[in-house]
Amino acid sequence: MTALIINGKELAQNTRQSLKEKIAKLPEAPALAVILVGNNPASEIYVRSKEKACLEVGIMAKTYHLEETINEAELCDLIEELNQAKDITGILVQLPLPLHIDEKKILAAISPKKDVDGFNPLNTGLLIQKNSDTFIPCTPKGIIALLHHIKSDLTGLNAVVVGRSQIVGLPTAQLLLKENCTVTVAHSKTKNLEAVCQSADILVIAIGKAEMINKNYIKPGAIIIDVGINRTQEGLKGDVDFNSASSVASYITPVPGGVGPMTIAMLLENTYEAFLKQHNS
Ligand code: GUN
Repeated sequence: MTALIINGKELAQNTRQSLKEKIAKLPEAPALAVILVGNNPASEIYVRSKEKACLEVGIMAKTYHLEETINEAELCDLIEELNQAKDITGILVQLPLPLHIDEKKILAAISPKKDVDGFNPLNTGLLIQKNSDTFIPCTPKGIIALLHHIKSDLTGLNAVVVGRSQIVGLPTAQLLLKENCTVTVAHSKTKNLEAVCQSADILVIAIGKAEMINKNYIKPGAIIIDVGINRTQEGLKGDVDFNSASSVASYITPVPGGVGPMTIAMLLENTYEAFLKQHNS
């Protein structure tokens, strides 16, 4: 079997085009405030891509690039100012933050109505309660959109999510449950990861180890979603060994061009939804 590619780049482009048309009809442009602390090179690349994508669809992007040495209170003050600002629709704090700053405290400081990343604990709680009045974190939302692109009904499928982060693993597992999948969350302490992964009809990999998952982990015909973005000497690599996995899977997302572009498209969608929420209430 040679797996079919799930083209995240194309799906993201379609989403962006339809958002661009909807945003053009709004009375004013939504605005996203992006806070970047320090000089993490990967974060700088992500933030630049987010800014560019915003501008392309008609969202104003305002980046606050802050010194690594900023303290928690100063960062909270800026967030509070942005929470109150009438002309700011969404607020995103790029992660990771420097170690001297308590990430949980910062994420809790963002107004839930402007929390386009969906990381504020209120929005996390609403997601668990299956309340749709929340913001779904961008990567998990993109993963579900990719799966729906190839299969409208995921009911009854065995889904294995490898990785238990707040950003990807846990919310993805929650969303797959909502899709009526039987969900297993595996992680670095899981015993016999190969066997656990082999039970998956849908395998979502978010572990941050270049090309770790090969065909030995994959049930023939499984759908593989590779969330990894690993910068190696041979270029950008996913967590999945693409060629090996493609020989047994039915569908697979490439890296680059799979989950990454969808994450950004979902950020734009969440910012548009934030604008609607703030202007309709
Ligand atoms: N760092 C890695 N992924 C993300 C994300 O989706 N949002 C934010 N804010 N930071 C990240």
